[in-house]
Amino acid sequence: MAFFSYDTLKSLMFRLDPENAHTLAGLGLRVLPACPPAWNAMIDRYFVELPELRQNLWGRTFRNPVGLAAGFDKNGDYIRATPALGFGYTEIGTVTPRPQSGNPRPRLFRLVGERSIQNAMGFNNKGSYHMIQRLKRLRFFDYPVGINIGKNKTTPEKEALRDYETLFKAFRDYGTYVVINISSPNTPGLRDLQNEAFIREVFRIGTGITDKPILLKIAPDMSEEQALELCRVAVEAGAAGIIPTNTTVDYALTPHAKDFGGISGALLTEKSRNLFRAIGREFHDRTLLISVGGIDSPEEAYERIRMGASLVQIYSLLIYEGPALIRRINEGLVRLLKADGYRHISEAIGAEWKTMKDER
Ligand code: FNR
Repeated sequence: MAFFSYDTLKSLMFRLDPENAHTLAGLGLRVLPACPPAWNAMIDRYFVELPELRQNLWGRTFRNPVGLAAGFDKNGDYIRATPALGFGYTEIGTVTPRPQSGNPRPRLFRLVGERSIQNAMGFNNKGSYHMIQRLKRLRFFDYPVGINIGKNKTTPEKEALRDYETLFKAFRDYGTYVVINISSPNTPGLRDLQNEAFIREVFRIGTGITDKPILLKIAPDMSEEQALELCRVAVEAGAAGIIPTNTTVDYALTPHAKDFGGISGALLTEKSRNLFRAIGREFHDRTLLISVGGIDSPEEAYERIRMGASLVQIYSLLIYEGPALIRRINEGLVRLLKADGYRHISEAIGAEWKTMKDER
């Protein structure tokens, strides 16, 4: 099967408005599984499956640790296509109880020189009913799927718990894990829910409704102390894991930033890594960690794993480098594991802290 290079595709796509390009790519991803020769050829080319990377988590097999981050497949429309991009799992959403159109356009911007993206989408999605219909068709498709849930924009903050309750109930029988998203900068007031009282309550409600693992996704825009405290509260309240980080509102990172929305990609790498380091140090042996934010190479992914990540996720750099990046990261991880004398990824997770203990 002939492949034309991602660079060619990118040069065409980058001539379009970013959101139109995303819609077009989405169309391609929806039809891909209906065309088995192309689908299989892409899986053969990009999907890395090696015993060193295979993990069993929450009763499911993650064939490699690199996942598609939330926000790319907001409605669960591209799940079947995701392995063809090389990803070992996907996180769909953010889904809200009712459909909503999100913020006015334009709301998605490329920061090309900085290999970054700025978005103010505002949870545009087709709602929980649509997503459930998609998931029903996939019951026999063996692939880990996280479901990232959020409140509707029109739901007042004091009624936010009810939206999360509705979603826990709706998705009780679907997906591999659930993520509470209270870290998007694009729904007014949402990040205010990153407080102890809300986190305790939302986990109390969630764990009473579903047996699925529930994780918390957090923002990068807080101090280490604040982040550690939120993680502590979440773990105590029953969180099965933490996902640092969402996009940043630190517009000082670049003179090219708009003054709204969240920045992701290479501009976020350092900030996300630094916060992850603090969280990894304290939580690598207490809960499952998924690191996301500006991961752009096997070395960066490996560093997050050594800091305590069992899994990593990517969004922005996929746009800049295409699915070959996902293959390169997975192959690179195997190389880096071998170079350090590890036979399996599990030996490297949190190794940075274990080495420190051994040296003491
Ligand atoms: C996102 N992200 C995101 N996160 C989330 O929890 N729910 C969402 O709906 C979205 N939507 C979204 C849209 C767009 C256009 C982007 C670029 C990002 C955040 C995403 O999952 C991830 O946390 C950040 O993008 C950081 O990772 P990268 O992009 O630097 O690899």
